[in-house]
Amino acid sequence: MSSVARVQVGIIGAGPAGLLLGRLLGLAGISFVLLERQTRAHVESRIRAGVLEPGSVTLLDAAGVSARLHRESLVHEGFEIAYGEQRLRINLRALTGHAVTVYGQTEITRDLSAQHEAAGSQILYGCEAVTPLDLTGRAARLRYRWQGQADEFVCDYLVGCDGYHGVARASLPAAGVRNIERAYPVSWLGVLADAPPVTPELLYASHPRGFALCSMRSRTRSRYYLEVAATQTLEEWPDERFWDELRARLPASVAAALVTGPAIEKSLTPLRGFVAEPLRHGRLFLAGDAAHIVPPTGAKGLNLAFADVGELAAALIAWFKTGATEGLDAYSPNRLARVWQAQRFAWWLTALTHRLTAAVFDERAQAAEFAYLAGCTHAQQSLAENYLGLSSVGATPPRSTRS
Ligand code: APR
Ligand code: PHB
Repeated sequence: MSSVARVQVGIIGAGPAGLLLGRLLGLAGISFVLLERQTRAHVESRIRAGVLEPGSVTLLDAAGVSARLHRESLVHEGFEIAYGEQRLRINLRALTGHAVTVYGQTEITRDLSAQHEAAGSQILYGCEAVTPLDLTGRAARLRYRWQGQADEFVCDYLVGCDGYHGVARASLPAAGVRNIERAYPVSWLGVLADAPPVTPELLYASHPRGFALCSMRSRTRSRYYLEVAATQTLEEWPDERFWDELRARLPASVAAALVTGPAIEKSLTPLRGFVAEPLRHGRLFLAGDAAHIVPPTGAKGLNLAFADVGELAAALIAWFKTGATEGLDAYSPNRLARVWQAQRFAWWLTALTHRLTAAVFDERAQAAEFAYLAGCTHAQQSLAENYLGLSSVGATPPRSTRS
């Protein structure tokens, strides 16, 4: 083992959260290392989210990685919710003065990686046996194996940006973390196709056969999702069956306009709600999917990850520059209050649009919810503010929240 190197922050995981955190710290002159299990090509090939809240774009601007985003992204001033043949447009701009930005997570990851490469950041891809140690000592340690060589870093702080299946949360003592989880009985079957999007904005379709989402990555690349039973497999969904079922769930005029194409990517994602409490254990912090998973209906996953990183980066920079501890102490309660508001919103939008049960009662309640939303601009404004991540209602930690 070579002489033990020291960095101020050790980051586990080079997905969007880890890459953005490293970028923000690096710009502030904070030394960091990023340890990633997969190859860079593997990380940059993942197809994931595609809708950015205004706050996420602001963070990417601050990280100096948004030039291509502003050239190539689509700005959407609203989106639609269809309930059978009824179509309701939520006018984000009129209701809040803001819009969402459509730009794939894949592209964000590539933009962040390119800036790290240009800056000569210390990112080790292909790391094995990454192990956080001494989380409550005078300094933490990050042990790993890379290119067959075992080594470790001494760090002032560690951040687990290693996703739901990562090692950071798993390394905490059982008494140190509470994993609060809800499994939904459905999955999202996603298809990416080089075909023009069927609608100019996103369309969330609620139908007796199940939910469907019409999204996009550009004016020539579409992203579609179908709600399917959690027991379904990809083999049961050849392209033709996917397109037929999508047409069956869309308003007739939209289905008639659908342009299909060969699926260049197909995926199944179980809907899950998960929160780890607290988000700090001594010198280790959790951020992004390592800390929480929300049902994708509200397009919150990536935006919550970026909001975690923005708050944690500011707190770490303040500590290293001034010794102030308030930001680090407030990170967990602050983020948990926000995360639970996002869980509530994603759960509400999922219940409004999906067929989670066959109960007639639930179907009638859903129809009543949609009718209320369609008839009440206040309800639409509440939806718009939550979709954009602008609402601060309930986002102040209650005094009883454990840090
Ligand atoms: N050691 C090192 N790296 C690891 C380990 C480990 N033991 N376990 C996981 N990783 C890496 C993964 O390979 C991945 O690149 O951590 C990274 C975690 O990235 P994400 O799962 O993308 O999580 P995050 O950065 O928080 O981004 C959240 O990604 O999955 C989407 O829907 C999610 O949009 C959300 C966003
Ligand atoms: C996507 O384009 O991948 C997407 C869009 C909106 C969502 C979820 C996923 O709510």
